[in-house]
Amino acid sequence: MSAVAFTGTSVMDIDAAKIRGAGSNVHFDKVSVAYGSHVVLHPLTLDIAPGEILAMIGPSGSGKTTALRAVAGFVRPASGRIRIGATDVTDLPPYERGLGMVVQNYALFPHMRVEDNVAFGLRAQGADKALIGERVKDALATVGMATFARRYPRELSGGQQQRVAIARALAVRPRVLLLDEPLSALDAQIRRNMVEEIARLHRSLPGLTILYVTHDQTEALTLADKIAIMRDGRVCSHGPTTELYRRPPNRFTAEFLGRANLLPVTVAEAVGSKGFATARHGDVVLTGAGRDEEAGDKSLLCIRPQHLSLTAGGEHTNRIVGTLREVHWQGELTHLVLDVDGTPVRVSATKLPVELPEPGAKVPLFFAPADTSLLPEDAGV
Ligand SMILES: Nc1ncnc2c1ncn2[C@@H]1O[C@H](COP(=O)(O)OP(=O)(O)O)[C@@H](O)[C@H]1O
Ligand SMILES: [Mg+2]
Repeated sequence: MSAVAFTGTSVMDIDAAKIRGAGSNVHFDKVSVAYGSHVVLHPLTLDIAPGEILAMIGPSGSGKTTALRAVAGFVRPASGRIRIGATDVTDLPPYERGLGMVVQNYALFPHMRVEDNVAFGLRAQGADKALIGERVKDALATVGMATFARRYPRELSGGQQQRVAIARALAVRPRVLLLDEPLSALDAQIRRNMVEEIARLHRSLPGLTILYVTHDQTEALTLADKIAIMRDGRVCSHGPTTELYRRPPNRFTAEFLGRANLLPVTVAEAVGSKGFATARHGDVVLTGAGRDEEAGDKSLLCIRPQHLSLTAGGEHTNRIVGTLREVHWQGELTHLVLDVDGTPVRVSATKLPVELPEPGAKVPLFFAPADTSLLPEDAGV
């Protein structure tokens, strides 16, 4: 990819204050959407704070695009209200909502030069020529595309086209930026760079609220302040990104945000003052970060593969034993798959003992209570 990067300079910075002043929080108040009699978004209540990046993540068909399009004004809610700042926008047309939007397939106008694409929204608003010139320049500089103004979309790479699409969305100085899978059409390497650049862009426009729809957990974990996980038209969990990753409230969340080993346990002792409970897995007593479990509850102990170690010591006071089944070397990481009393357990290690055990061998695994989380066993949701 070229050396250009989002620089986030000049007038855009000054405007961040203005955007904040206008109030850029997004509030879904029991918003539901139906196509005919088919409800695809069940009453959704959700707040996105001013300047926050909320990643809405979930499998295909879970209602992410529908929720975003309801904010944009392209889908009419069957019930509920949507507010942006202090304004109830539910009945406003899209162009009066103060939004910028970027979708997966760039959607640039092929017959227009980059600068005309970026100017499009401003022209539609009837802005004067001098202002348009200045805004277009700024927006293109912000995404590192200043020298591409005279090109046509077909003369740009996918990544460059998507930068122009972002510049076009920013040129109207939106309060809220809606991004719907903006990187899914790009290949892996460019996608990683773009994620970092969107993070940089947001640092230069701290007042800009971003609703970022994706099915990619890495994008969500890298970018978002908060994550909302969608499943079957409902939010099944919502919270600060690290919190949701470290302490997923249910199985779906645990597994959607990354690989999770889920060991069936029975709670032995409810959570104490330090936030830990003890639980039995067969004869083994383990300590895990708990919530409101009670002694006797069936539960799952969630441990991420990178938190399991083949060596004892330090905080790693929990010990389980598994039978080694598979070893997959992947360069930076080696993945081991073990069987712990019928539960497949995956270990991702950067460092391994020199003598790796053979498949079939009994291998002890160690982990820290602080790296675990107890989940309700019946968490179908
Ligand atoms: N215009 C439409 N008419 C009928 N059904 C639709 C329409 N748009 C989306 N849907 C349905 O709504 C559900 C949610 O879709 P969508 O919001 O696009 O999901 P996601 O973005 O999470 O993949 C899906 O079952 C989809 O088939
Ligand atoms: Mg979608």
